[in-house]
Order: sequence, then structure tokens, then C-alpha cells
Amino acid sequence: MANASGFFTPSVPKLRTKIQPSMGISRSGFCFSRRVVCSGGTEGAEKQVSPPESRMPKLVSKGCKLVGCGSAVPSLSVSNDDLSKMVDTSDEWISVRTGIRNRRVISGKESLKDLAVEAARKALEMADFDPNDLDLILMCTSTPEDIFGAAPQIQKELGCKNSPLAYDITAACSGFVLGLVSAACHIRGGGFRNVLVIGADGISRFVDWTDRGTCILFGDAAGAVLVQACAAEEDGLLSFDLHSDGEGARHLGAPMSDDKTDELLGSNGSVLDFPPKRSSYSCIQMNGKEVFRFAVRCVPQSIESALEKAGLVSSSVDWLLLHQANQRIIDAVATRLEFPPEKVISNLANYGNTSAASIPLALDEAVRSGKVKPGHTIAAAGFGAGLTWGSAVIRWG
Ligand code: ACO
Repeated sequence: MANASGFFTPSVPKLRTKIQPSMGISRSGFCFSRRVVCSGGTEGAEKQVSPPESRMPKLVSKGCKLVGCGSAVPSLSVSNDDLSKMVDTSDEWISVRTGIRNRRVISGKESLKDLAVEAARKALEMADFDPNDLDLILMCTSTPEDIFGAAPQIQKELGCKNSPLAYDITAACSGFVLGLVSAACHIRGGGFRNVLVIGADGISRFVDWTDRGTCILFGDAAGAVLVQACAAEEDGLLSFDLHSDGEGARHLGAPMSDDKTDELLGSNGSVLDFPPKRSSYSCIQMNGKEVFRFAVRCVPQSIESALEKAGLVSSSVDWLLLHQANQRIIDAVATRLEFPPEKVISNLANYGNTSAASIPLALDEAVRSGKVKPGHTIAAAGFGAGLTWGSAVIRWG
């Protein structure tokens, strides 16, 4: 297994190493400085050393490439017509305003974890890769079936004998892009070699199915990509651009709310407001118009910035792959960036908004159908609750 603990080999076991902020990995993901600060065991005795050149490429210039993908969706399909029997809406309204026609919803004994595992297995299979050789699993989700996260359970289900590190990333619909960038940072700076990035969400569990303003939008799914260390020349993450704005959180969220039945329990009378009330998450609350405006304003800017960092223009990129939220958002961003419709990947008609799963799900379909071929470049962008948004320019294969 790769050394996941840091940058130096065991020949310098007593040195604690840290990278000065001034030479940290930049937002674009590239790091060119050639100086490392090592703080020794003695308190306050910091000295600058220049490690042998042979070590440096491991630290700063390793590439990472996307070598396999997979996806999984629940078996229950819910059409616009089905929804129009539950709320005051119609197939025409939904498809004209959003482009969505169907969505898949977790039901019966299905679980998000199982979907994630299925997507992960398919990605590993495509790459002909043994799960025992994984050294990191990143589960990008806002809806884990355990509040403490899902990634370690996925590690167990995949049967990874070497117990790779596994943890969750919560960033709503930007989760997969952040997972991809995190995988690259772990590979370029952390000594990891084989990172499985999963985007999976069961948003249907947090939808108010009586609210026609939100219930028409969402579906459940999982997608996964295997990211592998490679030579710098083969690098598959050409650039990225990431942002957050907590101010905008008021437009989209599913905040925690106190359980009303808990009030019956009362307190022990000695400590005010103790014990805390039991809480659960409320259903998704959204100001659709504001989210729409945010997406069409911020996403093109972010992609333009990522393209500039990669030294590319949109006409030289093969595909535009956005988080699948609304076809009108996708069209507006594509028009602004001058991507013709034939270069835009879209599958939300079949699945709706699947949050962190939407990009890897669409990527997987595009790869398996032969649209996206090895060597193709893709400008991908996620955006959503947080608010958080970000872009990555990637090369497939
Ligand atoms: N069926 C029929 N009528 C509806 C429906 C519906 N499902 N929903 C709303 N309407 C009505 C409204 O009541 C309103 O009626 P009124 O004019 O009589 O008041 C009218 O249609 C227009 O409503 P708007 O909300 O203005 O419709 P809009 O064109 O903005 O479309 C939509 C709404 C589809 C939600 C759009 O704003 C949107 O897609 N926004 C982006 C949302 C998004 O992408 N969210 C996910 C982000 S990702 C994440 O992190 C989870």
C-alpha cells in the first residue's frame, strides 16, 4: 500500500514536516515551489532544508488520471405523470421548465450504500482494478444513512482487505467535483495512489412530496470514478476553481429542526435547556428563482476561470458536463460559454437532479455509450446548497 502518512520516507522518522502556506497547493491544484520547511523534534527549532531533488516529484508534480467509472440507480422510476397525481402539476409544466421527465427513487429494501457500492464495483471493474489496492475512498454525499458517514461501510462492502482510509465529503451538488479535487490533492501531496471517488445521494428522503416547487426536481443515484497516480505528463486534472458563499445558504437548505414530541419529555429541572431536544433534518427548502440566478451567474465564471488556468478555451474542450439540475440552467451556461448543444452532456430527463451523483452518473453513461473517449477533455461544474460551486477541467482516461 502507498505511504499515506506524509511526504518523507522513513529515513527521516524524527522530522515533522510541514509545507509553508506560501508554497501550498494552489486553488488551481499546482504547486511549483521547491522549498520545504521541516520542524524538528526540538521545540521551536525550525530550519529550512532542501530535500534531495529525487524526492520532489513525489511531492509536487505527480499527475492523477481518471481510469474507470460506474453508476447505479434505484429500480423505481417515477414519471412526471405519476407526480401530477400527487401534486398540482403536469408533465408539460415540469418538462418545459426543467427538462426532467423521470426520476429514480430509492424504495423497499434498496439503500444508498448499496447503490454506492454497485457504482464503485463497476468503476473498479472498468479499470480492471483490485479493491485491495485502493488506498483511499471518498464518499461525496449529503444524505448518508448514518450521521457519522458512509465511506467506511462502503470500504467494508467492497471487501478492501487493506483497510484504506475512507471518509465522507458533504458539499451537496458540488460534492463530486470537490471529491475529485480532493483526490488529486491526496495523490499529488499526500502519497496516495489509488483513490475511489463516489458521488451518491438519496435526496428523495428529504423532499416534501406535497411541495410541487421542489418534489419535481430530485432523484436518487450513485456514480463513481477511480483516480490513479500517474506521471505528470499524463495528468487528467488540468485545472480547477472552487468557491463557497454561506450568505446564499438561505436560498437552499434542509436545516435541522427540533422534534416537537420531545417537548413532552421535559428537562431534569436543574439545568436550563438540558437535555438538548432530539433533532432531525427538515425537508429541502428552496427559493428556486434565486438558485437559478446564482447558477447561471456563477457557473460560467467558474468554468471560464478553470479554462484559463488550464490554458484552454471552450472551443478546444470536447465536452461540457454540468451538475444536472435544470436543462434551462445547462442551456444558459452552454450558450454563455459558446458550447454548441452537441458538445453538452445531459441526462437529467431520465434522472432529475441527483445531487452529488449527477456528474459521475452522466459521465458514466457518456463513457459507456462511446461518446466520451480516452483523451477527451471535459469542463465539469457542480453547484448547489452551501452555497458551494466549482469547476474542474479533466481529461478522461
Ligand atoms: N407545476 C405547476 N406549476 C408550478 C410548479 C409545478 N411543479 N411549481 C411552481 N409552479 C407555479 C408557481 O406556483 C408559479 O405560479 P404563479 O405564477 O401563479 O405564482 C409559477 O409556476 C412560476 O413559478 P416559479 O417558481 O417562478 O417557476 P420557475 O420558472 O422559477 O421554475 C424551478 C421553478 C423549476 C424550481 C426553477 O426555479 C429552478 O429550476 N431553479 C433552480 C433550482 C435548482 O436547481 N435547485 C437545485 C440546486 S442543487 C442542490 O444543491 C440541491
